[in-house]
Parts: sequence; structure tokens; C-alpha cells
Amino acid sequence: MIKAKVLLDRDFDIGAVDDRLFGAFIEHLGRCVYEGIYEPGHPTADKQGFRQDVMALVRELGPTIMRYPGGNFVSGYNWEEGVGPVEDRPVRLDLAWFSKEPNLFGTNEFIDWCRMAGIEPMLAVNLGTRDGDAARNMLEYCNFPGGTAWSDLRRKHGWEKPHGVKFWCLGNEMDGPWQMESKTADEYGRRAYEAAKMMRWIDPSIELAACGSSARSMATYGQWEQTVLEHTFDQVEYISLHTYLNNYAGDTAAFLACPDLMDTFIEEVVAIADSVAAKRRSSKRIMLSFDEWNVWYRTRRDRATRVKEGWPVAPPILEEIYTMEDALAFGGACISLLNHADRVKTACLAQLVNVIAPIMTEKGGAAWRQTIFWPFAQMSRFGRGHALRAKVDSPTYDATYYDPRGKQDNYYPIAAAPYLKLSAIADRGTKGLNLMMLNRHLTEPLSVEVMARGFSGKSVVAAMTLHDKDLQAVNSAAAPDRVAPRKLGRISLDGERIKLTLPPASWSVVSLA
Ligand code: AHR
Repeated sequence: MIKAKVLLDRDFDIGAVDDRLFGAFIEHLGRCVYEGIYEPGHPTADKQGFRQDVMALVRELGPTIMRYPGGNFVSGYNWEEGVGPVEDRPVRLDLAWFSKEPNLFGTNEFIDWCRMAGIEPMLAVNLGTRDGDAARNMLEYCNFPGGTAWSDLRRKHGWEKPHGVKFWCLGNEMDGPWQMESKTADEYGRRAYEAAKMMRWIDPSIELAACGSSARSMATYGQWEQTVLEHTFDQVEYISLHTYLNNYAGDTAAFLACPDLMDTFIEEVVAIADSVAAKRRSSKRIMLSFDEWNVWYRTRRDRATRVKEGWPVAPPILEEIYTMEDALAFGGACISLLNHADRVKTACLAQLVNVIAPIMTEKGGAAWRQTIFWPFAQMSRFGRGHALRAKVDSPTYDATYYDPRGKQDNYYPIAAAPYLKLSAIADRGTKGLNLMMLNRHLTEPLSVEVMARGFSGKSVVAAMTLHDKDLQAVNSAAAPDRVAPRKLGRISLDGERIKLTLPPASWSVVSLA
């Protein structure tokens, strides 16, 4: 058994966790929309074709904000073709995923779906094949009350009241050569600035996110953020970050350490954003929108494969089946986000259903939770409050993370990764303390002693652990609960002192209220 000590204090605060940290993402990609959230004719579908079995799982998962409609897809999307009478909507080739897009589901259906789910919509505009003109028209269609051509068109389509969408993404991954009409940082920065300016003139209450790098491993990373923010600083509130964790190397210890690189990534982007502010002697702080994050590596596809497969509608692509070890790395990412609550204000798990997703469905059949469903649902439930600065004294290990998608050196050393990765939340509702903990030791239980100053007189109201001896265990339609949280035993409370033992290779949550 290895041992760790934690010291925290109710008054040592990182920052308030924004509810938008628990976001997710729906892209027109594979079976995320079609056969995912939308399947007319499914036994549980309502009159709009929204699958209610999926809706129930989404409510349980607890996302707060939903990004739409892409992703790579948005860079070729004509939003006008996804509104109005369905029979008039064209079928288009989607060059992002080499699929056909039937446009049966579009912006208005998405807004209705979000309202039904109690989720805030986040829309992305196309700054790939299109520009500020299409973006400002879309905003006018969505948010302007009426009396203009675009807003009256929305009313004619059946949505009398404006959608009031607050959060808008200015394109997607515009630095990536795989993107339709990718750009240099200067080209994108200028275009994003002009689009943002017009959008804000129409609706000054909106919040805007500029595209950061599509990965920390991009050759242009750093310079891209700097240049884009130099153009857009006065017109945006956020810069985006994207990360997909992988275990290509089959090195589980390194895989579980790699969320620490997310910490580095966040801190680097904060430094760049603040350097742009410093040059302007500005007190404005650009916040971070981590609007794509997850584990993803088994189902990545090259363009040649996609071309060979033709142009299907809603093909079963990127249907990553998540293992127990994926859930652990994923849990580490949850902790990284929470521990940067002062600057990361929005984050979106990519994606929601079927496509690299916590929820899987069968056409006409069942829906079930993947392993990664659990850390997300628990983060959303127990992460509401203030993130506390915890001093973690834990044995550590060194690892080398391999990312073949890197454009420079593919090997990333991670020095002194603590076996215990932890987030402590002062719960807004219960006034208690929630601990989210990852034991990254693959074979040893971890004995943890927490000195929680300012939290005496509490009792344990929830204690759960996600652990399975088989790190390759998965959930499926036949065995949907193979990997699920179980009770975490042996917790002792003595005043402000908490003692507990985490199983090897486990994600655990303890809530005191
Ligand atoms: O989430 C899948 C894809 O990953 C998105 O479309 C793109 O933005 C990213 O590269």
C-alpha cells in the first residue's frame, strides 16, 4: 500500500466552477445526430423524432451546455439549408467526414432538443468556406426578435421567440490542414475579428470564442494563439483548446499520467493570453473554452479510407468503445479541468452519443452508458461549487507519453506525476466538501489522509469508486453495467481529518455534507 497526504482549506480557493465546465458536443458526424439523439420511428421517439431513452441518459449524464453543429463539419456547413420545411432541405456532401448530410435536423431542432433537455445551446459558425456575412445572418435569424428578413424567416418557420443563444464559437480548428478552407493565424484572426464585430453589433449580449490550436502538438501551437488573440482580443471572451488523450503506445501508466499535460496546456494558453493583454496594458482576461476533450485513438480514420467507403448517410464511424482504463484517463482530465476553474470557464466533452461518446445506441434498439459516462456524470454532479487549492503530498512516477499525431517530437516526458490526482470542491449547495480522486498506481491501493480545514462536523453522504481488475473491461448492449461505480468502503472521519483507501487504478468520489 502506498500513502498520500492532502492539505486543503475552505478559504484557499482556485475559483468558482462555471456550470458551463460540464458541457458536451453534438456534431453532424456518423451516428451522433441520426440514430443518436434523433431517430423518428424509434420506439421511444417523440413526435419530433427525439429518442427519449437517449434523453433520459443525457439528463443523467448532466451536461450543461451543448456545442453544435461541429467540429470539422461546421467548416462546410450552410446553416440556411438546415432550417425551414424539411422537404425543401437539400442533401449535401459533407467533406469533413465523407458522408451525405440530409439536413433533416438543423438549428431549430437542436434548440428544441436543448430546451427539452434543459441544456444551454452553444453554436459554432462556419468560418471555413464562409465568412462574417453568413455568421451575422445566422445570428440575426437566431437571436433577433423580429421585423427583419432573417428574424421573420425564423418566425415563419415556427419559432416565434428568438432563441437567445449566448455562446458562439468563431469557426472550428482553423489551423488544421484537414479543415475545409483552413487558414493561417493572420487570415483567421482577421476574419474572426470582423465576424465577431458584426455579430456583437446585432446582439451585444453574446459571448464569443476564437479558435485556438487544434492540439498542443500542432507545429504552429503558441504562435497561433498569440497571433489570433492579437487580432481578436477586443472582440472575444474566450480562446479554445482541444485535446484527445490516447494510449497508442499501450503504456497504461503514461496514459494515466497524460492528463497532467492538459494542466500544462491550460497554463501555457493562459500565459499567452495574458501576454497579449500585458502588451495592451489591459486588465481584460481572456478565458479558456476547452470545447473538445476526450480519449480518442482507436477509431481515427484517414481520408483515403473514408473515400473508399463512399458517401453514406450517418455511417457508424468514430464509435470508440471505452475501456476501464479510458475512464481513468478521462477522470484525470475531469480533475485537470476542475483544478483550473479560475480560467477554464467552458468545456465540452466530445462528443455526446455514438461518436467518441459516453452514450451508445443501437438503431431501433437499446441505449447504454460507456465507461467514461461515470466520471463525467459524477464531475457534473459533484463539481458545482468552488475548486479548492489542495496540497497533495503523494509518491510520484515518471512517464513518457507518445502522441504520433504530434507535428514535432512525438514523445512527451512527464516528470513526477503524483499517483494521487485530486480535485476538491466546496459544494455550492450542500456547503460540504466533494473529493474526486484518481489512484494512478496500477497494482497498489492508495491510503489517503486529508486534512480538510473548515470542514469539520460533516458526514459522508456519497462514496463511490470505479474500479475493475480488468482494465480492458467495457460496457455493451448485452452487459451495460459491466463497469459501473460501486460503494467505496472504509472511510473514517475525525473532525477535519478524513482517511480512506483507494483501490489500485481507480477513480473515486467522496462527498461530505
Ligand atoms: O470530435 C471529432 C473531431 O475532432 C471534430 O470534428 C474536430 O473538431 C476534431 O478534430
